Amino acid sequence: PVLVVDFGAQYAQLIARRVREARIYSEVVAHDAPLEEITAKNPAAIILSGGPASVYADGAPTVDENLFDLGVPVFGICYGFQKMASALGGVVANTGGSEFGRTTLTVSGDGALHRGLPETQPVWMSHNDAVQTPPDGFAVTASTPGAPVAAFECVERRMAGVQYHPEVMHSPHGQEVLTRFLYEVAGLEPTWTAANIAEALIADVREQVGDGLAICGLSGGVDSAVAGALVQRAIGDRLTCVFVDHGLLRAGEREQVQNDFVAATGARLVTVDAEETFLGHLDGVSDPETKRKIIGREFIRSFEGAVSDVLGDQAADGKKVDFLVQGTLYPDVVESGGGSGTANIKSHHNVGGLPEDLEFKLVEPLRLLFKDEVRAVGRELGLPEEMVARQPFPGPGLAIRIVGAVTKDRLDLLRKADLIAREELTAAGLDGQIWQCPVVLLADVRSVGVQGDGRTYGHPIVLRPVSSEDAMTADWTRIPYEVLETISTRITNEVPDVNRVVLDVTSKPPGTIEWE
Ligand code: XMP
Repeated sequence: PVLVVDFGAQYAQLIARRVREARIYSEVVAHDAPLEEITAKNPAAIILSGGPASVYADGAPTVDENLFDLGVPVFGICYGFQKMASALGGVVANTGGSEFGRTTLTVSGDGALHRGLPETQPVWMSHNDAVQTPPDGFAVTASTPGAPVAAFECVERRMAGVQYHPEVMHSPHGQEVLTRFLYEVAGLEPTWTAANIAEALIADVREQVGDGLAICGLSGGVDSAVAGALVQRAIGDRLTCVFVDHGLLRAGEREQVQNDFVAATGARLVTVDAEETFLGHLDGVSDPETKRKIIGREFIRSFEGAVSDVLGDQAADGKKVDFLVQGTLYPDVVESGGGSGTANIKSHHNVGGLPEDLEFKLVEPLRLLFKDEVRAVGRELGLPEEMVARQPFPGPGLAIRIVGAVTKDRLDLLRKADLIAREELTAAGLDGQIWQCPVVLLADVRSVGVQGDGRTYGHPIVLRPVSSEDAMTADWTRIPYEVLETISTRITNEVPDVNRVVLDVTSKPPGTIEWE
């Protein structure tokens, strides 16, 4: 892999993603990882990320300088660029030329990184210190007003670096520069493709599971579907998928899992019909946290019930189910310190709350992938586009999109409104711009309207379209008025008891994405 050494910047994961966009596999490692750990990973190149500190500050994050002698190509970014300069004998100092935000880069000389790109170009900066003198043998190939040495390279040693952040969108040629480092300076080949990834992951699962049996909870979401499809490809009918229909799903989701997923993968599927149980327990409950707790608890009960059926079934052949498949992704792994195994399950993962005495070993085939890669692998495995491209959907489902108590009628009504919104957003080609668009029913609110010639006293529907990279923060999506108009007209005409459609224009923070 290409290793991204994390100096505590918020950008290390983003750099790894950008490397993968150049079709080269990349992982993040902590800056204090021992050199043996780094060499054990057999790095094809090392990228030193940005960081908050000055390289000369007390306690500044550092890295074992022997890594510059491994003969492995190295690329430094921002703090990593300065670290590289000082480790290799250059000079870094604070000369008062701080730059934060957009600045203009001027390309000089004929370096590999910027050759043929515009002579001046905007780049994104964030630094106080700057490199004064490059290390011996390094050519300076660009400058900015605050950084006379804004890029350097030594192609013979396969090393280069830039003061600016090539990984962010605000550096429009950044991806090109990073790619040139990888291809031209480091001499790497773009082999990280969906087909290769899928093949490698399938082989890994085969090795991990051996001739054992596995079980996978499908939520209807992308991650569990792709994880299930991969494991099915690896071990066939030794995998059983379990799908709990709690009656809180959106229109078409159950059919998607039962028909499309099974058709695309050939997986063995057990569906648990639990609508009555869930709605029974939710009867009269309006408090959001209470709803969530009830749903979490009942989900685990249903799943456990199904698992013991499957266990009984398969144990008849004298075998035991040893493995539980989870759709954990790389950002979860990095955020929890990159540790391995069971400690990393987020509590909101659908079956994360399973009791420990079930003693499953986890199979997490997606634990090194980002979401867009999961989607690409899903396509590679033949999963239908509606499944692969779908928006994130919360485990507690539509129950937390009804403000007020949950009833079958209210769910049916919300399902209709949600389907209309989804259809129109897709038809307008907006899926790529929208992270997700919760549609919320304000069941405890009524307002006066007029429809036909009569007065109505109905409920509002809220549209909550958001754009986001990771759901941690979000902005409301500026949907064209015509699209909003179509959605509003259709919902008020087609959904009984709804006489008003409103738009949520709150970012996160302060609002969360979901209303409950
Ligand atoms: P909030 O509402 O906290 O949501 O801004 C952030 C993201 O998480 C999703 N979400 C959940 N996903 N189980 C899940 O699997 C949950 O209980 C849950 N609650 C929120 C939400 O849809 C958004 O993508």
